[in-house]
Amino acid sequence: MTKDWEKKMNFRMKSWSLVLSTFIIWEAIVGVESQHDYADALSKSILFFEGQRSGKLPSNQRMNWRKDSALDDGHQIGVDLEGGYYDAGDNVKFGFPMAFSTTLLAWSVVEYGALMGSELQHAEEAVRWATDYLLKATSNRDVIYVQVGEPYEDHNCWQRPEDMNTPRTVYVVDKDHPGSEVAAETAAALAAASLVFRLSDPTYSSTLLNRATEVFDFADRYQGSYSQSLGSAVCPFYCDFSGYKDELLWAAAWLHKATNMQSYWNYVMSNMNTLGWTQGYTDPNYVGPNGEFGWDNKHAGIDILISNEFLNLHDAENADPFYSCADEFVCSVVPESPSKCVEYSPGGLIFKPGGSNMQHSTAISFLLLVHAGNLIRTNKVVHCGNIEVSPSRLIQVAKSQVDYILGSNPLGMSYMVGYGNKFPQKIHHRASSLPSMDNHPDHIDCKGGTPYFQSQDPNPNLLIGAVVGGPNATDGYPDSRDLFQQSEPTTYINAPFVGALAFFKFHNFL
Ligand SMILES: *[C@@H]1O[C@H](CO)[C@@H](O)[C@H](O)[C@H]1NC(C)=O
Repeated sequence: MTKDWEKKMNFRMKSWSLVLSTFIIWEAIVGVESQHDYADALSKSILFFEGQRSGKLPSNQRMNWRKDSALDDGHQIGVDLEGGYYDAGDNVKFGFPMAFSTTLLAWSVVEYGALMGSELQHAEEAVRWATDYLLKATSNRDVIYVQVGEPYEDHNCWQRPEDMNTPRTVYVVDKDHPGSEVAAETAAALAAASLVFRLSDPTYSSTLLNRATEVFDFADRYQGSYSQSLGSAVCPFYCDFSGYKDELLWAAAWLHKATNMQSYWNYVMSNMNTLGWTQGYTDPNYVGPNGEFGWDNKHAGIDILISNEFLNLHDAENADPFYSCADEFVCSVVPESPSKCVEYSPGGLIFKPGGSNMQHSTAISFLLLVHAGNLIRTNKVVHCGNIEVSPSRLIQVAKSQVDYILGSNPLGMSYMVGYGNKFPQKIHHRASSLPSMDNHPDHIDCKGGTPYFQSQDPNPNLLIGAVVGGPNATDGYPDSRDLFQQSEPTTYINAPFVGALAFFKFHNFL
C-alpha cells in the first residue's frame, strides 16, 4: 500500500510539472492578466471557517470576536457533541451539509494542498475541526448523531451562538431510523480527511479511516433516507432530494481512494448500474449530468473523482464510464457547449434558482479544475457535439467564476466579506450582525436580537472570508439581511472555493 501511495505521489508530482508547462504555453497564448490577489482570498476563505466554529475555541483562534458556544451539546442524552461547525448564518449543526463541506474541504487539500504554502496548516486545522466532531458524532457503532439544534426554534430567534438558549435537540440515525445519505457522506468526509493527514499525522489518519469504514458499513447495511427517518427536523432545511445511492457510491469511491481495497471498487462497479451510468442514464432517480454538484447531488463529483484516481494510476480503462460521464458534465456547463444546461447571468456567473447560488459556482469551478487536470494528464480534450473544449478552456471558465466572485462583475463588488474594498455589509449571519461578546457582554435573548436584524447599519463583526449566496439572475445585489437567499454565507460555498483559490494562487505565481 505504501508503495502504491508513493507511486501516486510521484506521478502526481510529474503530472504537476506537465500542468505547469501547459499553463506556461496557455498563458503565452491567452495573455493572462492577474487582477486578483488569490493568495489573500485563499487565506480569508479558510479563516471564514473559524467564524463558523461551535464549541470551545482554542487559544490560537484568529477570528477572535467569536467566543465559546454550545459547550453542552449532547449532554442531555449523555454524549459529548461539543464542537463542529454551524452550517451558515444560524446556530444549528446540520450534519449532512457539515459532512459534505468537510469532504470538499478535504478534497481541496488533497488536490491542491501542495499549492497552499503556509495556508496548508490552516486548511488542515479547518478540516480537523470538522473531523474531531464527526468522530464524536460516530463514536457509538451503528448510531450517528446527525444534527444538534431544533431548527424551527433556532431560526425563529436572532441570537448569538454564544448565548443561545433554544433547544439543542440531538437527532439520531440508527438501524431502525436509517439515514444512508448522511451516514455515507460522513464516511466520505472521514475517508477524504484521512488522506489529508496521511503524512502529517498518520495516527489520526488511520483513526479517521477506520471510522470511515465502520460508518460506511452502517450506511450500506441499513439503507434508507434520513429525510424519511427524521422528517421535519431536516426537511425542508437539508432534505435529500437525489436519494442516498449517490452518497453510497461517493463514499465507496473515497474509501477506495483512501484504502486501495478492491472491495470498494467492486462495490462501485456492482452498484453503479442502479444509477444508470452504463444504461444511458435510464434510472428514473438519476437526473443526468445537469451541471449539478452539491450537498444533495454527488454524481458529477463521483465521475470526476474516479476519473482522477484512475488516471493518476495510468489506468484509463478503469476510468470509464466515469470519464465519459465527467466529459458530459463538462458539456452541461461550458457556455458554448450545445448540451449546456446551466444558465449564466448577463455578467457571466453560473446561476441556478433556489438561493445560495454561489455554492454552484464554487463547486462547479472546483470540478472543472480537477477535470482539467485529468485532461492534461491524458492529453485529451472534451468533445461537446462539434465543439472541442480544451483543458485551458475549463480553467478559463473556472477562473471567470472565481474572478466574478472576487469583484470582476457588473457591480464591481466582491462577494467575499473582507476581500477588496466593496463587499457585502449586511450579511444574513447572527453572530456577525449582533454586537460581539466583547462589546456587549450582557445576554441577548431570542427576540432581543430583532432590532439588530432590522437595522440598516452594516454588521459590526466582519466574518472575514465568508462568500455569500450572491447576486440574482441579473447580477443585482441589494445587500439586505432579509434576503437570506442572497446574503447568507454557508460552509459548502467556501469549501470547494478553498481548492479553486489555491489553484489560482499557484497559477498567479507563474
Ligand atoms: C436583481 O436585483 C436588482 C437590484 O436589487 C433588481 O433591480 C432586479 O430586478 C433583480 N432582478 C431579478 C431578476 O430579480
